[in-house]
Amino acid sequence: MRLDIISIFPEYFAPLDVSLIGKARRTGTLDVRVHDLRSWTHDRHRTVDDTPYGGGPGMVMKPEPWGEALDEVAPAGGAVPRMIVPTPSGRPFTQAMAAELAAEDWLLFACGRYEGIDSRVVAEASTRMPVSEVSLGDFVLAGGEVAVLVMVEAIGRLLPGVLGNAESVADDSFAPGAMESLLEGPVYTKPPEWRGRAVPEILLSGNHGAIARWRRDEALRRTAAHRPELLGRLDPGKLDKHDRKVLADAGFPEHGEDMAN
Ligand SMILES: C[S@@+](CC[C@H](N)C(=O)[O-])C[C@H]1O[C@@H](n2cnc3c(N)ncnc32)[C@H](O)[C@@H]1O
Repeated sequence: MRLDIISIFPEYFAPLDVSLIGKARRTGTLDVRVHDLRSWTHDRHRTVDDTPYGGGPGMVMKPEPWGEALDEVAPAGGAVPRMIVPTPSGRPFTQAMAAELAAEDWLLFACGRYEGIDSRVVAEASTRMPVSEVSLGDFVLAGGEVAVLVMVEAIGRLLPGVLGNAESVADDSFAPGAMESLLEGPVYTKPPEWRGRAVPEILLSGNHGAIARWRRDEALRRTAAHRPELLGRLDPGKLDKHDRKVLADAGFPEHGEDMAN
């Protein structure tokens, strides 16, 4: 997969040389190209921002450097990347979106700063490539760089061969499939007792069916405690009697009541 990242702070992306993503770059699974937006400016101060039309505080990123950058990184008439623009006003980034983006051949990330990028840049880019405006969450960062690092890591670990154990993504929180919309429960490793705290007995039992049941119970309890709104997304048809009891005991009797129906 090819990834182009355009930013006024290319040095922000040093972490992409480390760990799983760094290895994926070295083995050629990921071809990451980081570009300095200022190399498409033409004045002495390498200006990328200007005051907002209509007034108000802050500055806005000028369209000209962005236009030239996109023309050069993704020239007209050639292959077309999918452009991702991080912005708090975008669609929420989710595991499902990470999986969707992991299936692309080429992604182009445009990192905003200040009050964001002149809106005509996205409008114009949309005429020649698919563009998605994506939010990392309901908070405001100083720039798109951290958001892009997060997305690249979430997408990159889904690429074939990047994780040592490909199965580990299947059990992740938000993984598609049986545990969809459930947070992952607690995990443990050796030693079996540490500072007087024992690992739950069931995990040492070797009884795979009972372990799977325990993990699901813990996932349901954790989801109920930390993200109760996710319970509404569970398919009632996939909740068995035991699931409903766990949810009712966790304070969600509406799921328990379904048991009687
Ligand atoms: C200070 S923010 C601009 C916020 C903008 N004025 C607003 O309220 O929507 C500067 C840049 O940080 C990035 N950014 C900030 N918060 C983000 C979030 N929650 N998700 C994705 N990108 C974000 C975007 O690239 C944005 O252009």
